[in-house]
Amino acid sequence: MSTEKVPDTPVEVIVDLLTKAQDIAASCGNVPEELTSHLQKALDIASGLDDYLEKMTTQESEQLAELFKKTFSHDWDQVHKEGKTMFKLPKECITGHVEGQTLKMLIHMSQAKRVLEIGMFTGYGALSMAEALPEDGCLVACELEPYLKEFAQPIFDKSPHGKKINVKTGNAMETLKELATAGEQFDMVFIDADKNNYINYYKFIMDNNMLRLRGVICIDNSLFKARVYLNETTDSNGLALREFNQFVSNDPRVEQVIVPLRDGLTLIRRVPPAAECFRHQCKITDDEVFRGVTGRFILDRMRLDGKVAYVTGAGQGIGRAFAHALGEAGAKVAVVDLDGAKAETVVEELFLKGINAISITADISKSDDVQRMIDAIVSKWGVIHIGCNNAGINMNSASEDTSLEEWDKTFNVNLRGTFMCCQAAGRVMLKQGYGKIINTASMASLIVPHPQKQLSYNTSKAGVVKLTQTLGTEWADRGVHVNCISPGIVDTPLIHSESLRPLVQRWLSDIPAGRLAQVTDLQAAVVYLASDASDYMTGHNLVIEGGQSLW
Ligand SMILES: NC(=O)c1ccc[n+]([C@@H]2O[C@H](COP(=O)([O-])OP(=O)(O)OC[C@H]3O[C@@H](n4cnc5c(N)ncnc54)[C@H](O)[C@@H]3O)[C@@H](O)[C@H]2O)c1
Ligand SMILES: C[S@@+](CC[C@H](N)C(=O)[O-])C[C@H]1O[C@@H](n2cnc3c(N)ncnc32)[C@H](O)[C@@H]1O
Repeated sequence: MSTEKVPDTPVEVIVDLLTKAQDIAASCGNVPEELTSHLQKALDIASGLDDYLEKMTTQESEQLAELFKKTFSHDWDQVHKEGKTMFKLPKECITGHVEGQTLKMLIHMSQAKRVLEIGMFTGYGALSMAEALPEDGCLVACELEPYLKEFAQPIFDKSPHGKKINVKTGNAMETLKELATAGEQFDMVFIDADKNNYINYYKFIMDNNMLRLRGVICIDNSLFKARVYLNETTDSNGLALREFNQFVSNDPRVEQVIVPLRDGLTLIRRVPPAAECFRHQCKITDDEVFRGVTGRFILDRMRLDGKVAYVTGAGQGIGRAFAHALGEAGAKVAVVDLDGAKAETVVEELFLKGINAISITADISKSDDVQRMIDAIVSKWGVIHIGCNNAGINMNSASEDTSLEEWDKTFNVNLRGTFMCCQAAGRVMLKQGYGKIINTASMASLIVPHPQKQLSYNTSKAGVVKLTQTLGTEWADRGVHVNCISPGIVDTPLIHSESLRPLVQRWLSDIPAGRLAQVTDLQAAVVYLASDASDYMTGHNLVIEGGQSLW
């Protein structure tokens, strides 16, 4: 770290002071060696910190590196002299590598989708955050100087994430008013503009409900070169930040922590609304609707953290999508399939996403295999909370020609196999006093899909619905809920058979939604039925067919 640089952070100030102290010590003849050595050690610790953080932090992207270089090589004084900027902009005010990656990490961790930045400068922080936003995420960057938008935009355009950034030039307070009028809310707000206005930005955002329920406000420079806590501070920005920090720490609506990163980064979040109202003694109905059931709001109630699930027929198609969905929602998943190699591949996919999974090769039409599957899950994880009995087959023939072999094969997998899985899993769940069984039936349980002929399939799936209704009512008072999902025509290998494939165009004309279902269209339903949010639902047949059964 160059000692000629104007110190910008508490650590840089310490390095500056220690360097001066060391120079003084060097010029005095009689300084004890121990003091010189302590000074050197303190200087090594302080001056090495930022370099070490730089080295150990994930490298910035090519576009961020370009933005940083372009910012530092730009002649900002000249630009100001030429009247292109209203103010002389110091290049040091850029959010650098470590802080940029910190903001990016915060976006990932909070899964923010909408971000507001107040004070964009050359866009380093904006692009760092945009890199962590999902494809449909959006970052509104407020910047006073129109010149800075022109400066940053060409590099935003080079980045695959630049399109998520919407720069609004002008006074940030005016932009905030516009955004509030339009009802805009944000998951993360990064305040990094004129220090004396931090408190006004903060108040405006909080008072106008611009921070979403789980939102976070990040404040840059909250330590302001240590001046916020030094008694002799007279500097107006230092005093403004001191007042701001005090205001936030007294605000009952929020909790906050100052992270001593670079010049200080404060993280502020809303306290849960019940606590806030309690403090204010508002007239609220403090019940489960307000607080959430067991303190969990609706999307949390659909999480499956700590749950153990299995999905049969999960090697491909609908079952694979169910396995991913349950795992994404937090469950551990046993991936069961007749085809062990396919099940293993799905386990590898889940593992890559950080989901705990095992594969089990089993033919669910065989009772020994079904019991082995249940035993394997219980011996691995001790419990079974969620059982998705999804494996099924489809064969086609005109009813007058349907062989008993086709009938038996279909029923052995689709109905007898599903029953055996329900029974074996149900026995474990009844003992536990808790369980969610979700069977895959079909729209064919309700209507007679045509023009394909599939008597045994349709009849077996109607049986799955009745099986579900019977078990769902018989076991409901013992904590085991049984429901089924009836998909319409789903674009999976099942319908790519030689006889079915040519019928796609014909089917499309029967589907109000105008398309076949994708496996992803069914994922939310399985998570809902597997979660506590569906506790009052049992014996239900949840039909997801783009309206086809209604025409
Ligand atoms: N695809 C559709 O249009 C559609 C529509 C409604 C209902 N369904 C039902 O959804 C379920 C899944 O269908 P899909 O389209 O994903 O089928 P798919 O053929 O793409 O996948 C089924 C998976 O189940 C496995 N399987 C087959 N028999 C098995 C057995 N005896 N034991 C263990 N695993 C077995 C297969 O190996 C395969 O991996 C089936 O019950 C099917 O009837 C499908
Ligand atoms: C510290 S810099 C921001 C650094 C930036 N966040 C980054 O990632 O590099 C502060 C910026 O706020 C802008 N600014 C100052 N006052 C403003 C105001 N009232 N409205 C909008 N922007 C303002 C300045 O022009 C400057 O570009």
